[in-house]
Amino acid sequence: MTADEMKKQAAYAALEHIDTDGVVGVGTGSTVNHFIDALATIKHKIEGAVSSSIVSTKRLEAHGIHVFDLNEVSGVAVYVDGADESNHFLQLIKGGGGALTREKIIAAASKKFVCIADESKLVDVLGKFPLPVEVVPMSRSYIAREIVKMGGQPVYREGFITDNSNVIIDVHGWTIMEAIKLETELNALVGVVTNGLFAARPADVLLLGSESGTKTVYAK
Ligand code: A5P
Repeated sequence: MTADEMKKQAAYAALEHIDTDGVVGVGTGSTVNHFIDALATIKHKIEGAVSSSIVSTKRLEAHGIHVFDLNEVSGVAVYVDGADESNHFLQLIKGGGGALTREKIIAAASKKFVCIADESKLVDVLGKFPLPVEVVPMSRSYIAREIVKMGGQPVYREGFITDNSNVIIDVHGWTIMEAIKLETELNALVGVVTNGLFAARPADVLLLGSESGTKTVYAK
């Protein structure tokens, strides 16, 4: 079974967590693309979606699923999104696709966060995957110097502009033992819009596609 088949398996398993008659929060990435295709099979049962990126919005609309602005809805019952890494507390690294800020906003506004991934994404310690940090362009060098002081190795994601017209610094070399502390410290740097640690608001459930079927993981 390929990683993509495992992603698809987890994505379809997420349908069981969808509240019908409501608005569904939709993340971004290759796993979520499968989820959007799955959601299309029950589109007559949901009110619509809120989307974390332009690319997901286009895919949702191509399926005929109405996309609401987050400001138009009173709340989101369930948010479904992928991850680059998850630890056993369901604290995540996200943002490999660069959509971290809108993803974090919808995750914060949602009652339940269902994370979908292939089984390779579950790790003991976060940090092997470089941590994305979205910054206002003029703050890029300043933030990079501050990250070096914090022991990280910042790499500018060249040629990439986020949906919010900002840039991304990917931080290598961190072994992240205190994810909430690091998330908070990075967010306190002036110029940082968001960082890709989803630890203060972790996932509520992790659905992992695997050779032996979808595994449902709750935080330790
Ligand atoms: C997008 O910015 C990311 O947060 C994705 O959710 C994450 O990179 C997972 O992507 P895949 O589903 O493509 O592995």
